[in-house]
Amino acid sequence: MGATRIDGNACGAAVEAALAERIAALASPPHLAVVIVGNDPASHVYVGAKERACARLGIRSTRIDIAEDADYSEVVSTVKKLNADTDVNGILVQSPLPKGMDEVAITDLIDPSKDVDGFHAQNLGRLVQGDASGLLPCTPAGVMRMLEWANVDLSGKRAVVIGRSRIVGMPQSLLLAQKGADATVTIAHSRTSDMAALCREADVIIAAVGRSNMVMPDWVKPGATVIDVGVNRVDDDSEKGYHLTGDVHPDVGEVAGALSPVPGGVGPMTIAMLMSNTVRATEMQQ
Ligand code: GUN
Repeated sequence: MGATRIDGNACGAAVEAALAERIAALASPPHLAVVIVGNDPASHVYVGAKERACARLGIRSTRIDIAEDADYSEVVSTVKKLNADTDVNGILVQSPLPKGMDEVAITDLIDPSKDVDGFHAQNLGRLVQGDASGLLPCTPAGVMRMLEWANVDLSGKRAVVIGRSRIVGMPQSLLLAQKGADATVTIAHSRTSDMAALCREADVIIAAVGRSNMVMPDWVKPGATVIDVGVNRVDDDSEKGYHLTGDVHPDVGEVAGALSPVPGGVGPMTIAMLMSNTVRATEMQQ
């Protein structure tokens, strides 16, 4: 690969090292509550990684498992209980919820000061108002931190965000365009015409669409920075029965100037930023 590798493990470790000092200065260690509803295997893997990160940093974590066929009201009452519990500093409800449960309504039920995912309307609203000092969505904030760490200059540059999701694409676009980052941002999505031509104009491509190897080498301007947010399970004949791929074809590494790998790119950064939000929420509460 000719491109510089933007290593999310190394960047995430630097974020965590800086957090350790802030945690030591707190009156009591932060406490994160993670709610997981149902049996989605990928969600269980992610939640396990979040619990391990808490353990590494001395953050207390409580995991609340709710059955796939539980009543929606059980999720509502769990969140309300955690909101009222002054011993809990951060609340995260792992997405996706089982079919028929209203994820946005659950998100907006979380006390905004404990919303370590940064998905509450109040926290996203602050971001739209130009205030990025609060609790920001972890994956997009992690991408911004990686770009800064890799010394990628965004000012006046053309950025294309592929995907317009509530969790990544939309907040990512806001963060790239905010004052101080100053990129010129285009949001591409399933109805975008000639995505390849659009991407070829970009200095920075953030792929967050959930389609294996979609971004091909001939979509990328030589020297561009490419951040791969995709995590796609592709079935194979291995012992595990699958392997993970990104949204970016590996051969893009021959064209791009810098590329974040999957795995080992954005994934560890999302977790590092969740830890960062948990510490920030605790600091604001204490
Ligand atoms: N599912 C995939 N990414 C995320 C995330 O950042 N937060 C939550 N709560 N669920 C997710």
